[in-house]
Amino acid sequence: MEPISLQTALASFTEQWSPRIVTTVNDYDVRVAKVEGEHLWHVHEDTDEFFLVLAGELHIALREAAGERTMVLPKGSVFTVPRGTEHKPYAHVLTEILVFEPTGTLSVGDRHDEVPDHVDATTGHALT
Ligand code: NI
Repeated sequence: MEPISLQTALASFTEQWSPRIVTTVNDYDVRVAKVEGEHLWHVHEDTDEFFLVLAGELHIALREAAGERTMVLPKGSVFTVPRGTEHKPYAHVLTEILVFEPTGTLSVGDRHDEVPDHVDATTGHALT
């Protein structure tokens, strides 16, 4: 058990849309990811999904009963996507995020559009 530098963790990989698990809290993962371009529309039926923007700027498009809207999260912002809400994260610039969600949560959700080649469908990778 040692402290983990998020800067070091983020410097240890280059793959985008491919979250790394930095630590766990009870039955939750703390994951970090580098993202640029579009993720895909997906939904987590049984869990909320917490985002913290560490660098850059993250956009999260949401499909809600009232229609579609996009959240813009500058560096330092947090946002929780409610369970059951279709969402699609994207970023115009290279962006670093921290995600907090139950261990085993699939990055592309329980229902999703076709997974593009640049997106890793994963429950998170260990740091190496
Ligand atoms: Ni999600």
